[in-house]
Amino acid sequence: MKNCIAVITLCLVSAMHVKRVVDCEKTHTTYSAKIFGFSWENCGKPEDPAVLKTLVLSPDPITIPGDLTASASGSTTVELASPLAVNVTLEKEVAGFWIKVPCVDEIGSCQYTDVCNLLNLLIPPGQDCPEPLHTYGMPCHCPFKAGVYTLPESGFYLPDMDLPYWLTNGHYKVQGVFGSMEKELGCLKITFAVHSNTNHCLCLVRH
Ligand SMILES: *[C@@H]1O[C@H](CO)[C@@H](O)[C@H](O)[C@H]1NC(C)=O
Repeated sequence: MKNCIAVITLCLVSAMHVKRVVDCEKTHTTYSAKIFGFSWENCGKPEDPAVLKTLVLSPDPITIPGDLTASASGSTTVELASPLAVNVTLEKEVAGFWIKVPCVDEIGSCQYTDVCNLLNLLIPPGQDCPEPLHTYGMPCHCPFKAGVYTLPESGFYLPDMDLPYWLTNGHYKVQGVFGSMEKELGCLKITFAVHSNTNHCLCLVRH
């Protein structure tokens, strides 16, 4: 276990070097993971216009692949329109320290200049929004009008997916700060722990 932590540390440290990251990424595998103790909080200023009011995910742990039940509600007092920037900071606890996971392939501690563009890429405009948004008449493209948004309890299936190489066992913190035109709109912080069945220590042992 000690060794493994040391290797994960090396792995994260080596992620600073692009070449190593590329090598590491070759060990991407499809595997199953469990997410424990998901929790969230708003981390913005009291006057931020956008806040999440509720977010309930079950079961705990959430299994990937597996079923997920979610309900959520939030509100914004201003319209959220392009360009809608988000700065994400992802940290992983390694041997008692919080280490920032770098941005690789648009995942990690990344700065997205316009989430509206990303949404348009993921869900081509003109197409129905994915379920359950479609059923509840919720939008999936900018602009999001000022108002209250509520997603009633809904079931999702989390498919088998290629999880990033750094998503190894441990505790994580993710913070997202939303803003537009130099103004902070909202901030959300999420914490969770991961248990996966693949030993990603392989990522360095191979070299
Ligand atoms: C994101 O970070 C950049 C660089 O630090 C900063 O200029 C920008 O205002 C930040 N955006 C948000 C939404 O916080």
